[in-house]
Amino acid sequence: MMKVIPTTDAIKAQIAEAQRAGKTIGFVPTMGALHEGHLALMRQAKRENDLLVVSIFVNPIQFNNMEDLKKYPRNIVQDSIMLESVGCDFLFAPDEQEMYPEPVTDQYEFGKLSEVMEGASRPGHFNGVAIVVRKLLEIVEPDKAYFGEKDFQQLAIIQQLVKNLLLPVEIVPCPIIREKDGLAMSSRNMRLTENERFNAPFIYQTLTKAVKLNTVLSPEELKKWITDKFKSRPEFKIDYVEIAEDEQLQTVTHWNDAKGVYIFIAVFLGNVRLIDNMRIF
Ligand code: PAF
Repeated sequence: MMKVIPTTDAIKAQIAEAQRAGKTIGFVPTMGALHEGHLALMRQAKRENDLLVVSIFVNPIQFNNMEDLKKYPRNIVQDSIMLESVGCDFLFAPDEQEMYPEPVTDQYEFGKLSEVMEGASRPGHFNGVAIVVRKLLEIVEPDKAYFGEKDFQQLAIIQQLVKNLLLPVEIVPCPIIREKDGLAMSSRNMRLTENERFNAPFIYQTLTKAVKLNTVLSPEELKKWITDKFKSRPEFKIDYVEIAEDEQLQTVTHWNDAKGVYIFIAVFLGNVRLIDNMRIF
C-alpha cells in the first residue's frame, strides 16, 4: 500500500528509516496529472531501487504565466490509482505552505544554458525549477532521480545544478514516451480540444521528416524548412525552432560542430504550448 505524506518532517522520518534499513531510494518528482510518460520513469525507478518515492507538487514559482498555473491539470484521485499501479511506496504531496514557509529569493546561475529556448521564452522558469528540485532532492535524499528527455533543457539544468552543488544523487535521463500517433506525452495534452488533439501529431511527423534532411540541408536551412512547414498550418504558432548541440544547447551552424545535435521545438496549438525534440545524430 502506498503511503501519502503531506509534510516534510514525516517524509524525512520515512526516508531515514529506509536508509537505516539499507534501502536504496528512486525518486520521480512530478506536478501530477500523471500519464504513461511519468509511469515509465516510475517503473524504471522501481526496478532499479528498493523503494519508489514520487512527489506531486504544482510548483507555482516555475510558472511565468499565471493563466498556465491556474489551468494546469490536477487529478489527484486518478494520479493515486496510477501510482498504486506502479508500486509507488511513498507519495510526498506537500502544499505550498509546506514547501515555501518563507518567500524564496534564491537565484541560480546556469549561464548560456538557461538563456536559450525555454529560458528565453519563460523568464524565471528555470530558477523556479532549480529551487524546487533542490529542495525536493534535499528532502528525499534519493540515490537516483529520474527525469524525462521531453523537457531536455530542464534535464540539462538539473544535471548542472546537481554538479554545481555536489548533490549526492544520480540523475537518470529517460527517453520521451509518445502516443501511438507520435505526440510526445505531456500533462498539457489533456487541455487540447478534440480538433487540436487531431492536429497535434503534425509536430512529431514534421520532426521525423526533418531529422533525415541533414544530408541535404544546412542547420539553418533545416530550421527554415521546419518553420515553413508550420507556417503552412495556421492552427500552429511557432514559439521557437532550434537546431542545437546537446550540452549547452547552443545553436549549431555546421553539422560537424558537435557530437550530439537535436531539433528543439515549442509551438502553440490554440492556447496550449507544446514542446518536443528529436535527435538528428
Ligand atoms: O517536470 C516537471 O514536472 C517539473 O518541472 C518538476 C521537475 C517536477 C519540478 O517542479
